[in-house]
Amino acid sequence: MFKFAIFGNPITHSLSPSIHQFFAKQLDLMIDYQKIETPIGKLREKLNRFRQQGGHGANITLPFKEEAAKYADELTERARLSQSVNTLIFEPDGKCIGDNTDGIGFLRDITHRLHWKLRDKNILLIGAGGAARGILPAIISEKPKHIFVWNRSASKIEKMAKDFEAVVPVSNIKNHEFNIIINATNANFQHDIDLSCELKNTNCFDLNYGERHQTFLKWCQLHHSNTISDGLGMLIEQAAESFFQWTGRKPYASNALMKFSIST
Ligand code: ATR
Repeated sequence: MFKFAIFGNPITHSLSPSIHQFFAKQLDLMIDYQKIETPIGKLREKLNRFRQQGGHGANITLPFKEEAAKYADELTERARLSQSVNTLIFEPDGKCIGDNTDGIGFLRDITHRLHWKLRDKNILLIGAGGAARGILPAIISEKPKHIFVWNRSASKIEKMAKDFEAVVPVSNIKNHEFNIIINATNANFQHDIDLSCELKNTNCFDLNYGERHQTFLKWCQLHHSNTISDGLGMLIEQAAESFFQWTGRKPYASNALMKFSIST
């Protein structure tokens, strides 16, 4: 029996336990997957306790992805580049490896399911927080023409541009044309962010999913965007990669997407 958990705050609405149970059933494995609501400042303590109780691996969500990168003894290359960890692997020798499966999850979803190409394209990434940093190494690996990044405040974008030389910070996103726009914020569009650019030939992706996070995609539709997608497919793909890192078994993400798009 494998023992996993997701740590975050809030965590009530997380689909991760159901997704991982679905994978386990698919692959005929037994898992226990808990949701552990973690007070701010208590991540280390909660993770240590979970490991003492025999935990094999953990998922990390808001707002702890950067703290989890500091907790890990070692980081994979993709986690090191993003300085953000969504997966911890507790090895039998006591070592804790920090990984980030968001980037590969994003890439698999947009290339395998949506058939969007990033190579030689103009990308606009909105946001420069942990979610944006998590997918940036994967975007860069596809060699787009430009990766423009817009963020509300200057400090995070300056750090991002220092850490990733491929990033082009932009202060004005009005009246430009992009091939792909990715929302990596939880902002309210129209009220907090005014994009006002031509979207006829633009594919728009929101890393968020679910009822509460629709203002970006609604705004894109209103502006006649080409194709839109929320982040549910990515959520499932990143979970599939975490599951693989923990168990060595690869789940079929597309079956899971069918099930969870119906039930969300
Ligand atoms: P996450 O891990 O989800 O990325 P984060 O690191 O706190 O969380 O980053 C949140 C992102 O959403 C940031 O880019 C943030 O912009 P700031 O750096 O200016 O804070 C952005 N964001 C959140 N609320 C926003 C709002 N109301 N308007 C514009 N951007 C917002």
